Amino acid sequence: MPQLSVWYFRTAILFLIAGICVGLYMSITHQFEATGAHAHINLLGWVTMAIFGIYYALNPVQAASRIAKIQYMLYTIGILVMAPALFLMLTGNPALEPVVAVSSLVTFAGVLLFAVILFTRKG
Ligand code: HEM
Repeated sequence: MPQLSVWYFRTAILFLIAGICVGLYMSITHQFEATGAHAHINLLGWVTMAIFGIYYALNPVQAASRIAKIQYMLYTIGILVMAPALFLMLTGNPALEPVVAVSSLVTFAGVLLFAVILFTRKG
């Protein structure tokens, strides 16, 4: 398996652990304000990252490209900042909204770069 896929799966499992921790926290405390953070950590962090990892495992030539590594960095940094900022914003820190806004745009840039990779592949 390409190294990039390994990194995608390693990062994804850490996000799943974090997402489940937020879910358990909400279940135990009966406070559900963080539902949006929980859903995004699990779906952007675990599900989507695992799909990226599978794609690169099936396309090892692309996994070795510089643009694929940049795509991983962009997407991962976006969610790494967005996840805790969204959690804190939803649990009573509205001042973090600009951080959530910028990091979500970085995450989106990572998604757009993945679209470029998909549409420019040869073969
Ligand atoms: C042990 C694991 C998990 C626990 C304890 C957990 C717990 C929770 C809780 C307490 C809520 C809030 C429910 C409410 O607001 O009434 C929730 C919502 C949600 N969870 Fe999880 N969850 C877990 C795993 C996952 C996973 C793996 C995913 C996705 C891959 C996921 C996706 C969602 C989504 C999308 C919502 C929002 C549903 C809605 O608002 O209608 N959860 N979860």
